[in-house]
Amino acid sequence: MLKLGVLASDRGSNLEAIIQNIESGRLSAEIRVVISDHPDAQALERARQYGIEAIYLPPGSHKTNLDPKAEEGYVTCLQEHQVELVILAGFMRILMNHFLISFQGRIMNIHPALLPSFSGLEAQKQALKYGAKYTGCTVHFVTDEIDGGPIITQAVVPVLPGDTVESLSERILKEEHRIYAEAIRLYSEGRLKVEGRQVIINDK
Ligand code: GRF
Repeated sequence: MLKLGVLASDRGSNLEAIIQNIESGRLSAEIRVVISDHPDAQALERARQYGIEAIYLPPGSHKTNLDPKAEEGYVTCLQEHQVELVILAGFMRILMNHFLISFQGRIMNIHPALLPSFSGLEAQKQALKYGAKYTGCTVHFVTDEIDGGPIITQAVVPVLPGDTVESLSERILKEEHRIYAEAIRLYSEGRLKVEGRQVIINDK
């Protein structure tokens, strides 16, 4: 069974969706550990409710990434838990070289927009401000290019008249919960092959 490690900074609704897919048998995987850079992240609480080991690891003094010592701690913790695939679920820090090399090709992220549009922070707000009629979400492999790794799957979500950041985010989030579990399932079945920027999805 595929061993997952989940990194989450805050709410953890994607984490919860993944857990529910596992519990219902739709996803054959096991979450070995959930790590957060915030001691009071709701994600840690959610994990513990399901009996999953949940650990706060201090990020160090850097603001946008983990400082090198902290990053080493994250990598060691994931390795000690024999994690095969790292799932970033609302993890608000950029991963640097040591992490990326240690789990090369084995890190996934979800972004609340149709990449390459609206990368970076506040993607839903960016889409609204830009006047996009459609936006969505993207699951991709993580590389050293921020929000720029090979795309595994996407879902399109309409922007409706009168939408606020909240209403749009909620509509996108429903799709996030669906496609993240789907991407992990494809990976767990050995069906994803990366060729340059393309992710080929093989039939069963
Ligand atoms: C999601 O919108 C995800 O796309 C983004 O951060 C948010 C995390 O939400 N990267 P949650 O913590 O999974 O509820």
